[in-house]
Amino acid sequence: MSEPLIELTGITKVLKGQSEPRTILDGVDLTVREGESVAVVGRSGSGKSTLLSVVGLFDRPDAGRYLLAGQDISRLRERRAAKLRSSHFGFVFQRFFLLKHLTAAQNVAMALVNGQGWPRRERRRRVLAALDQVGIAHLAKNRPAKMSGGEQQRVAIARALVRNPRVLLADEPTGALDTETGTLVIDALLGATENGCGLILVTHDRDHAARMGRILDLADGVLTERVPA
Ligand SMILES: Nc1ncnc2c1ncn2[C@@H]1O[C@H](COP(=O)(O)OP(=O)(O)OP(=O)(O)O)[C@@H](O)[C@H]1O
Ligand SMILES: [Mg+2]
Repeated sequence: MSEPLIELTGITKVLKGQSEPRTILDGVDLTVREGESVAVVGRSGSGKSTLLSVVGLFDRPDAGRYLLAGQDISRLRERRAAKLRSSHFGFVFQRFFLLKHLTAAQNVAMALVNGQGWPRRERRRRVLAALDQVGIAHLAKNRPAKMSGGEQQRVAIARALVRNPRVLLADEPTGALDTETGTLVIDALLGATENGCGLILVTHDRDHAARMGRILDLADGVLTERVPA
């Protein structure tokens, strides 16, 4: 079996707002391997986005163990977390967060601005390869305003893929799209898993969830694997 990329054990997250502290994640266990796709489903407010932000190192758990590619990162300083976040993860959200005045290619290239140090020609090659991977290389010079929602979301996926992440984290990436367009977006995300990328998809869409290798239900702070019918 392929290597585990992500291994969470007993992950707990307590949110301390103005009122009583609330336990949002209450001992979550989750393993995602290379090339594996996982859907996370659950009611609104069940903590799906919170879980993704813990996995993607935007947020820290209050308890539990987190192994990333075999390395224990349960306790990590912010600088190191930021490095791992950009080297290991690609993020896709319901909103595309594209810059309007830039072309598709320039939007994707934004993800390469920091750190990589590749020559211009190599950056360009990678940008076009990422756009091609999601089927919109022909739109490289178009600006977001002239693209459909599905095309814009695929630009956002290309932007997430261009740094070769180990894991893609997608939080309701089809939430703003119709079913047909959403299907193309899911195709693009699944395409990335063929190169060994792990995928965690948060979705309210049953059909999209059913296309993932596994479906996990988040309820009462615990993830439970749904047994295929
Ligand atoms: N920064 C915060 N401070 C306090 N409470 C928060 C904060 N962020 C989220 N919550 C609460 O934590 C719970 C889980 O939120 P989360 O956004 O993870 O749910 P979700 O499953 O992603 O919901 P949805 O399907 O609506 O996106 C909710 O009850 C929410 O109100
Ligand atoms: Mg959410």
